[in-house]
Amino acid sequence: MLSQKTIDIIKSTVPVLEQHGVTITKTFYKNMFEKHPELLNYFNRANQARGRQQTALANTVYAAAAHIDNLQAIVPAVMQIAHKHRGLGILPEHYPIVGENLLGAIKEVLGDAATDDIINAWAEAYGVIADVFISVEEDLYKEAEKDGGWRLFKPFKVARKVKENDLVTSFYLVPEDGSKLPEFNPGQYITVRVTVTGDEYTSNRHYTLSQPSNNNEFRISVKREIDCDPNGVVSNYLHTDVNEGDLIDVSAPAGLFTLEENSNPVLFVSGGIGVTPLNTMLQTMEFGRQVAFVQAARNEKAVAFKEQIQKKLEQLNGSYFVKYSDTEGYITKEDLAPYIKENTEVYICGPAPFMETVISIARDLGVPGDNIHFEFFGPAMSLEALANAN
Ligand code: HEM
Repeated sequence: MLSQKTIDIIKSTVPVLEQHGVTITKTFYKNMFEKHPELLNYFNRANQARGRQQTALANTVYAAAAHIDNLQAIVPAVMQIAHKHRGLGILPEHYPIVGENLLGAIKEVLGDAATDDIINAWAEAYGVIADVFISVEEDLYKEAEKDGGWRLFKPFKVARKVKENDLVTSFYLVPEDGSKLPEFNPGQYITVRVTVTGDEYTSNRHYTLSQPSNNNEFRISVKREIDCDPNGVVSNYLHTDVNEGDLIDVSAPAGLFTLEENSNPVLFVSGGIGVTPLNTMLQTMEFGRQVAFVQAARNEKAVAFKEQIQKKLEQLNGSYFVKYSDTEGYITKEDLAPYIKENTEVYICGPAPFMETVISIARDLGVPGDNIHFEFFGPAMSLEALANAN
C-alpha cells in the first residue's frame, strides 16, 4: 500500500512527466537498448523509428500512476495491453529493466527537479503498476497453456499460401508437432515471430486469425505494405520470403476484441485490412441476429473478403455497404445512420484515424460507449483514451 505522501507526489508530478514525455521516453529507450540489446527481440523497431511506441508505454505508466489510488479503474485497459504482452512473451524479469531505465530517464531529463522524494515515489508506484501487469499476465499465460495451448512460441508450418487479392495473402498454419489447436474466439490474434533475412533480432507482429476456430489450422491474412512503410518489414518478408513448407514461430491466440454473445443488432465497420477480425466474427454468426457490414477500402482492387462477407450476409439476411475512398471519399454519418437501431452494437477495426472518425460518428448517432467495440492496429492510444472510449 502506498503512503498518502507518495500518492500526492505521484499525482502532482504526472503533468511534469507528461510535459517532458517525448524526451523522457526517447532517453529511456536509448539507454535501455544500449544496456539490454536483447530487448530488441521484442520491440517493434519500425514503431521505434517513427516514435510511435515510444510514447505508448511511458504514457501508460503515467496514466496508471494518475489512478494509483484506484487501479481498479484501469484494469480493462491493462487487460488489453497484457494480452499483447502475453502474445509477445513479455516476462516478469523484464519489468525491473523497464522500471530502472524509465526512472533513470526521468532523473536524467528532469535533472535537479527530480528530488529523491520524487524518484522514490515513482519507483514505488512503478513497482505497484508492474505487479498488476505481471499478475494479470501470469493468469493469461496459464490460460494460454490450457486445452492444448502453449506458453510462449511454437513452430508452425506454412501449409498453404493463398492470394486473396493484389495486396492480401492468406497463410494457413499448422503446428509442426502435429498437435490439435486450442479453441479461440473470433476476433483474437496470434503473434508471429520471425527473423527477417539479414536481421540480428527477431521481429514480432500480431495478426488476427482470419477464419473461425478449428482444431487443425490457423489462418492469417497479411497485407503487403507497398508504400515502403517500415512497419511492413514483417508483412513484406512473409509475402516474399516465407513459402509453403517453411516454419515460423507462433504464439497461442490472444486478445479481447471478440463478438459479444447477445441478441442485439450488430454493425461491423471495417477500414482496409481491419476487415479481418470483423469478417471472422461475422462468419461465426448464426441466423436470427440482425447484422450489417460497412466496409471501407481504397478501391476495388484493395477490398478483401468482399464476396465471402456478402455470401454470409445473404445467409443471415443482413445488409452490406462498401465505400471506396479513392473515388467516393470516407465513411460519413449518413452512411452509417441506416444501420443504427436500438441497442445496436458497433464493432470497428481499421487504421487509427479511420477508427477515431467512426467512433465519433457512432457517438453522434447516439450509440452508447458500452456498445462501441474496437481494436487498434499498431500501438494503442494512451491508456486514458482507451479507458474513456471503453
Ligand atoms: C508497467 C509497465 C508497462 C506498461 C505500462 C506497458 C505498456 C504498454 C503499452 C500501452 C503498449 C502498447 C499496446 C498496444 O499496442 O496496444 C505496450 C506494448 C509493448 N510492450 Fe509494454 N508496458 C510495460 C512493460 C513492458 C515490459 C517490461 C516490456 C518488455 C521489456 C514491454 C514490452 C512491450 C512491447 C515489445 C510492446 C509492443 C510494442 C512494440 O513492439 O513496439 N512492456 N506496452
